[in-house]
Amino acid sequence: MEPGNHRILIVDDEVNICKSCVKILSKDGNHEVCHALNGYDALAMMAEDPFDVVITDLKMSSLGGMEVLRRVKEAYPDTRVIVITGYATVCSSVEVMKLGASDYLPKPFTPHELRAVVQQALAEKEMLLQNRRLMTEEEGSAPVSHQLIGNSPKIKKVITMVRKVAPTDSTVLLYGESGTGKELIARAVHANSARSDRVFFAVDCGTLSGNLLESELFGYNKGAFTGAHKDKEGIFKLAHKGTVFLDEISNITLEVQGKLLRFLEIREFLPLGSTSLQKVDVRLIFATNKNLRDMVEEGTFREDFYYRIYVYPITLPRLKDRKSDILPIAYHFLKQFGKNMGKHLSGFGDQAANRLTAYDWPGNVRQLRNVIERAVILCERDEIGLKDIPLLGEMGEIEQLIEYVPSTNEELKQVKKAVREKAVNKIERNFILKALAENNWNVTQAAKITGLQRTNFQKLMKKHGVRRER
Ligand SMILES: Nc1ncnc2c1ncn2[C@@H]1O[C@H](COP(=O)(O)OP(=O)(O)OP(=O)(O)O)[C@@H](O)[C@H]1O
Ligand SMILES: [Mg+2]
Repeated sequence: MEPGNHRILIVDDEVNICKSCVKILSKDGNHEVCHALNGYDALAMMAEDPFDVVITDLKMSSLGGMEVLRRVKEAYPDTRVIVITGYATVCSSVEVMKLGASDYLPKPFTPHELRAVVQQALAEKEMLLQNRRLMTEEEGSAPVSHQLIGNSPKIKKVITMVRKVAPTDSTVLLYGESGTGKELIARAVHANSARSDRVFFAVDCGTLSGNLLESELFGYNKGAFTGAHKDKEGIFKLAHKGTVFLDEISNITLEVQGKLLRFLEIREFLPLGSTSLQKVDVRLIFATNKNLRDMVEEGTFREDFYYRIYVYPITLPRLKDRKSDILPIAYHFLKQFGKNMGKHLSGFGDQAANRLTAYDWPGNVRQLRNVIERAVILCERDEIGLKDIPLLGEMGEIEQLIEYVPSTNEELKQVKKAVREKAVNKIERNFILKALAENNWNVTQAAKITGLQRTNFQKLMKKHGVRRER
């Protein structure tokens, strides 16, 4: 969370506790920390100028912590309240959370624990304010380019790097986990270059194998190999004056790496089966989610090629490392899908917003996009609620697949196949385990009882790696 001026109020009838809490929290940056020795004073101070966070003891002689919590939440819903609970008050922690406390702090606590709950409460407050801002905003502030949403320092740094390199002809290397926006950035580089009115070619090196990739990129002449019935122009030729984006380059064979290296050095190439050199002017952008340096060490990536493309590397941050971007991006997708589906949604409820922000997003922005698309489909009210974003993080493999909304027939087929396979595997495995468990791990008997041939039963055991532990 970005540092800001926050006001914190400590409420406790023991002056020493107040003083030490004030001391601990005052050290923490820009916080203004005050204290009150009873609930009435605390409410009077709130009325004068509301605090962002109130930390109150539960047991106080006049106006207890529970009452402070209730009255503060009623009059100042934006204020976060943390309740300090004693040893014997297990149920009260449940109760205070029900009454709307953001957190509770069991006694005794360390300075570190105190700071941590306060920081958490402030981050939550920041998130809720952001959610409210986004909900009332008509259109998000103009995206820098190509729908690149985000205002975190980490994404701003990426945007600055894109701005600097885009107008040049330099080769760019994008590194980032799956779904972090590599293709989007590649398009942004192209869109902000002098080549923007020419073609942008995206080539997925993960799906094209060695020879195929080579013939696609460089083209071939009739008779160059069996099946080459006529001349074919390659992507580099077609992309003359434009940009070629080579995605998933960790999949390129050493041989094709060598050819690309040569092309990068002289911008000339020979189509397969041809003897006349071709010269083209293309800008190259590479992307990978693997550590190429490691691959160089292992000998699966050419070192000279690595240095040739490692001119201007840009690393895309993971979504969980820039949490303040989660809600703006979520709103962006919400508007986009809402419009497509003709649903007018006002935004995310506080709990839903909280859950989106707290989640780790292993599939990064792509996963967030899928989750929002699904939420828009599911949502029956005008606000996305917790139940529209089910099971985040607690999902098994199959559930995750089911969450995915395919957008082409090909994807639909793939997802159906994967779900079928995974479901069948799970059922088979459980079936075997149950039969064995019920028959004291006697394979012959388990097979007999289930009605399977012994050999087939054993095959299933092997398929699922089921073995008796000794
Ligand atoms: N900063 C962002 N703002 C808005 N949308 C984004 C942002 N980053 C990524 N996206 C969207 O997230 C999705 C995934 O992005 P993209 O395809 O560029 O990721 P990638 O890194 O190429 O992923 P993969 O490794 O899975 O191919 C796309 O729909 C893209 O438009
Ligand atoms: Mg991609």
